[in-house]
Amino acid sequence: MRAVIVAAKGAEAEVREVMEDELLVGVGESGTVELDVLYSSYNYKDGMAINGGGRGILQSFPIIPGIDIVGTVTRSEDPKWSAGDTVVLNGDGIGESLHGGFATRARVRPDALVELPEALSPERAAALGTAGFTAMISVLQLEDAGVTTESGDVLVTGAAGGVGSVAVSLLAGRGYRVVASTGRVEEEGDYLRGLGAADLIDRHDLSDELGKPLQSERWAGAIDVAGSTTLANILAQMRYGGTVSACGLAQGMDLPTSVTPFILRGVTLTGANSVNAPRTLRQRAWDALAAELDLEKLDEMTTTIGLADTIPYAELILAGRTRGRTIVDVNR
Ligand SMILES: NC(=O)c1ccc[n+]([C@@H]2O[C@H](COP(=O)([O-])OP(=O)(O)OC[C@H]3O[C@@H](n4cnc5c(N)ncnc54)[C@H](OP(=O)(O)O)[C@@H]3O)[C@@H](O)[C@H]2O)c1
Repeated sequence: MRAVIVAAKGAEAEVREVMEDELLVGVGESGTVELDVLYSSYNYKDGMAINGGGRGILQSFPIIPGIDIVGTVTRSEDPKWSAGDTVVLNGDGIGESLHGGFATRARVRPDALVELPEALSPERAAALGTAGFTAMISVLQLEDAGVTTESGDVLVTGAAGGVGSVAVSLLAGRGYRVVASTGRVEEEGDYLRGLGAADLIDRHDLSDELGKPLQSERWAGAIDVAGSTTLANILAQMRYGGTVSACGLAQGMDLPTSVTPFILRGVTLTGANSVNAPRTLRQRAWDALAAELDLEKLDEMTTTIGLADTIPYAELILAGRTRGRTIVDVNR
């Protein structure tokens, strides 16, 4: 098999041929389902894993990065899965503490696998990947909290990135008036309007200065990939009873806020976690993605790279210079 490998903490990632038995056992808890990997995808976290041999993401060594897999089952010790099934796996520790998807073969745990939805090709399921899955979890969180298309504008930050692009497209498809926050208004404005954004704002208006604890009420709902000052300002700008789904830390892990938006405006802050999502949520989110995502828009936001490209790509994604979603064709 061919794989990207990070041999030790701090080591440079490399692409090489390896004997399957050498690598697919012995890292964390071995899985019982073997796969031919068809595609993986590239997420911000993969950039963090590859760039600098871990940056806190990688937990075991040697390890194959890649937090997403779309693959064909070749052997299964679990009766739920049989040879020939095409399956999707996002998170569940792969590419962090268990071997991941930047390889031609994988051995994974059965419980977090989802059957490839009929409406999606393996490429498109990979294009969605963890970012798309997370965007859908956040959309479901807003709806479950009672944010409706009548409630008012919904903000999406990091809109030109992976989670952001899918979130804009999904929310617009559901009839929300979506405002996209991006650091690339000039460069990606047409792209974001094409995905369904009704309006754009410059992300620096949210990220650069911490405003007052309560600001003018603007957002009925928000999906935030940035954290830090951005999230604090969003909370201060929420309308009465609004909900924010926080799913990322592209600006930072801190959150310099106060209780004010919660106790004076009844704001809800909810968190999206794709890695440990229970099977029922995985199935719900994938069913919804398959049913409602505009596939032409998905194709417009997608780029494909090969296995060896995954190493230089880390720097690009961490610098916020990639757009939309990136498929990793592991056989290329
Ligand atoms: N909770 C989960 O389960 C989960 C799952 C997936 C991802 N995430 C997290 O969500 C975030 C986004 O992931 P992704 O895969 O969408 O990454 P991505 O494709 O790299 O997109 C991130 C986007 O954030 C914006 N951004 C970059 N630096 C920023 C800064 N300093 N301040 C504000 N915005 C900034 C950029 O968009 P613009 O150029 O449009 O501003 C960038 O394209 C990451 O932090 C990732 O770890 C979490």
